[in-house]
Order: sequence, then C-alpha cells, then structure tokens
Amino acid sequence: MLAPMEGVTEPCFRDLVIGLHRPEQLGGAFTEFVRVVHHPVPAKQLLEHLGPERFETPVGLQLMGSDLDALGETAKRAAELGAPVIDLNFGCPSKGALRGCAGSALLDDPAALERLVRAVRDSIPTTPLSAKIRAGGDDDSLLVELAQAAEAGGAQLLTVHCRTRAEAYRDTADWDRLARAVEAVGIPVCGNGGMSVHTDLARMRQATGCAYGMIGRAALGNPWIFSGHAATREEALGFLLGYADLLEQRGGLPARFITARLKQLFRHWVASDLVTEATRTEWLRRPNDEAFIQHLRELATLAGASSRP
Ligand SMILES: Cc1cc2nc3c(=O)[nH]c(=O)nc-3n(C[C@H](O)[C@H](O)[C@H](O)COP(=O)(O)O)c2cc1C
Repeated sequence: MLAPMEGVTEPCFRDLVIGLHRPEQLGGAFTEFVRVVHHPVPAKQLLEHLGPERFETPVGLQLMGSDLDALGETAKRAAELGAPVIDLNFGCPSKGALRGCAGSALLDDPAALERLVRAVRDSIPTTPLSAKIRAGGDDDSLLVELAQAAEAGGAQLLTVHCRTRAEAYRDTADWDRLARAVEAVGIPVCGNGGMSVHTDLARMRQATGCAYGMIGRAALGNPWIFSGHAATREEALGFLLGYADLLEQRGGLPARFITARLKQLFRHWVASDLVTEATRTEWLRRPNDEAFIQHLRELATLAGASSRP
C-alpha cells in the first residue's frame, strides 16, 4: 500500500501512482491525515482529500484527533461521501498532535486508543476501519498492548510503522516488532518502515508474517516500486510532467509551487537514470520556476526521440 504522507499523497500524486499499478500490485492508498479538532470536518474538505477520481484500488481517508464525538461524526460523514475505508492515525509525532493528545500521543495510553477506535467503529458499523500505529512512544514496551487495543476497539486492519515516536524517521527499522504485532492480534497486519526497493515487500512479509506492506518515502523516488517495473527515462519524465500538469489543472498552482513539489520527489528520485547522486544537488539548486518545468519538457522530447526506433 501507499503510505499516507502529508504534503505528498494529495489526490494528484496519489492518482498518478495508483494509475501505474493494477489492484493486485498496489492494494490501497491513503489520504494525508485530516485533523479533527472539536468539530466534525466539513464535507467539502473531506471531498477535497478524497479527490475527483475513483479507482478499484481503495483510498482510505485518514483521520487524526482525540475528540470522540467529532471523530465519530467526521468518519460517518466521510463514509456517506463514499470513503471506502477510514483509517485512524496514531503515529504523527508533531508537537501539534501531541498538544491535542492526538496522533502518537495515544501510543502512551492503549486504553484511550481503544476507546477512540471503538467510538469511530460505532459510528460507521459497516465501513472498513483501520488503525495505523508506531511501535510505541518512548520505547516499544507497549507494542503488544497497543496492537491488541486497536483490535479490541474494532479495527479490521492494523498498520504498524515499526519505528517508535522517539525514533522518528531514523534509517534503521526493527522488523522483529512487526512479527510481535502479527503474533499478538487476529486481524491482518500491514508492515511499514524501512523498505526501499520492490523486493523488500516480499522480504518483509516472509520475515514477519505480515499480510501487507506499506511504503512511504521510497515511493517518492520510485512511484513504480509496488510493481517492480524498471521505469525508463521517458516514463520517469512522463510521470513528473504529468504530476506538474495535474497540479496546474486541478489546483491552479503557480510554477514556483509546482517545482517545489517536484523537488520533493527529486530529493528521493531513483527511477531511471534521470537523477544520479552526482546531479541531485544540481537539480535541487535550480530556481523554482517555469524554466525548471520547461527543462523537463525538453528532456522528455529528447528521451522520446531516442527511444523510438
Ligand atoms: C512527508 C511525510 C508525511 C507523512 N505524513 C503522514 C500522515 O499524514 N499520516 C501518517 O499516518 N503517516 C505519515 N507519515 C509517515 C508515513 O506514513 C510512514 O509511516 C513513514 O514514512 C515510514 O515509512 P517509510 O519508511 O516507508 O517512509 C509521513 C511521512 C512523511 C515522510
């Protein structure tokens, strides 16, 4: 599955990645987290997160909050608007989330996490519900309790990001924690963290027994990672220009914002030979303007011409 990523998995990027894969290659994706504070989120905002396209591959709407009534009502509204899955965020380490006792704050209190999952479960009895946790807060000592709390509250799928809140986004990820979560619950577990190439998906499932795998940052650098397709330079440029075009058509974004989004991908980009370690800094130093996109168009024309017999 494609991980929820704030500032990344908005509908344009997400739709393009889904469009590259068959449902058996990419089984699901998620919106960025939608923050719920005190009041239910308006339908208009939920629809913006869900985006204009619908695919066979389900896109779960992720909610983050701690107000049981507001979360329950928002989940109900989202389900009525057609969200095929509701996901609850218990991993966000931001100060805002912690202040609001939401996101990863719940990792210190399995009973509160269970109450929250149950409140949402009760509000959407027929819509699939998933929960995404980290392996713990300061350490992983509550992992099993947290996993069981999510299941007891009524989650039908549990995603475990195998780093703790304290470990943030450090390079190494401890997959033994996934195996412990898999052992502890009867619902399917989706493993997340530390996958950088397509073959890691099978390796993680083999090593931990998890049912599914979720990839975040590596999909920014290789949107084909879920199928293992080795993209050509022409395909890579086609993806990047398609993303730029969608951002302009749907969001009316000016070139400087579009190039900033493209550079977010360039920081990770490994698909084809378009960006190498030697040229990455050069790409990132280019000004954020129309000339950046124009340069990509020229490269695409050249790549198209050279790939034709
Ligand atoms: C830029 C960025 C934004 C993120 N936003 C969210 C989010 O909105 N909701 C969430 O549950 N996790 C979020 N995450 C965490 C990812 O979903 C994922 O758990 C994490 O990146 C570990 O997976 P990876 O090692 O494959 O990147 C975010 C991560 C990044 C890098």
